[in-house]
Amino acid sequence: MGLMTGKNVVIFGVANKRSIAWGIAKALHREGAKLAFAYQNDRMGESVKKLATEFEEPPFMAPCDVAVEGDIDRFYETLGKQWDAIDGIVHSIAFAKREELGGNFVDTSWEGYALAQQVSAWSLIGLVKGALPMMEGRDASVVCLSYYGAEKVVTNYNVMGVAKAALEASTRYLANDVGPKGVRVNAISAGPIKTVSAMGVGDFGTLLAAMADKAPLRRNVNQGDVGNTAAFLMSPLSAGITGQVIYVDAGYSILGI
Ligand SMILES: NC(=O)c1ccc[n+]([C@@H]2O[C@H](COP(=O)([O-])OP(=O)(O)OC[C@H]3O[C@@H](n4cnc5c(N)ncnc54)[C@H](O)[C@@H]3O)[C@@H](O)[C@H]2O)c1
Repeated sequence: MGLMTGKNVVIFGVANKRSIAWGIAKALHREGAKLAFAYQNDRMGESVKKLATEFEEPPFMAPCDVAVEGDIDRFYETLGKQWDAIDGIVHSIAFAKREELGGNFVDTSWEGYALAQQVSAWSLIGLVKGALPMMEGRDASVVCLSYYGAEKVVTNYNVMGVAKAALEASTRYLANDVGPKGVRVNAISAGPIKTVSAMGVGDFGTLLAAMADKAPLRRNVNQGDVGNTAAFLMSPLSAGITGQVIYVDAGYSILGI
């Protein structure tokens, strides 16, 4: 029996096999969870459907673009026709315009700022609110993905650093709100991993190399490292943890000069 046997988990943010969300899905599946996938659009949907052929039982899948009004409600309504309850949500979603992920932070546009906040931070609140009626009283767990750029200046991360700061603060406020309803909310701050989104950050290769060179473990982390930590945070093994940011970064964040 796995750590997640009998638990229903919804995963937002699988785009392809490199996605961190896919690493999390594999870890949760290994631990016995029943999974549902929300994909952003038809193109991602095709990719998720292909990946999901790895599972014996076809998972529930439906579209959900968090920037489209009403999509979150529509997703949970469709899911509710097949599932009675939700025990976990994985929020592995972020977006900023490419031109906002390089150059000077002072040039951040209002439209770019608002879009990054809506997709990368506000969506956590929307997804938790939409799922609450199906999560209440079930010792449910929500996990989102953050990055060190939320707290320190990381060159080129710019508007996404501010969105991640909002995501981490939202994690704490949500944890306090929904804790009495038996729902935990935590963030994983992952080290840099080569994914499609990450490649949009200017000079991303330098971040990867710096981490492998300087982190106490002298390596980069991967989707499997994050997946295993997410499985722990979803499982009863972490029952006393909520509102926290857990670092999966080979120790990089402990370093000073
Ligand atoms: N790769 C890294 O180095 C790294 C490090 C720390 C944290 N993160 C975070 O991990 C999460 C997953 O990113 P990833 O690196 O796996 O990249 P990815 O490109 O594989 O995943 C990003 C996902 O966000 C989804 N998305 C974007 N806009 C959306 C919208 N409007 N509605 C619904 N979904 C939308 C995309 O469809 C995609 O599935 C993000 O929150 C990212 O910021 C990544």
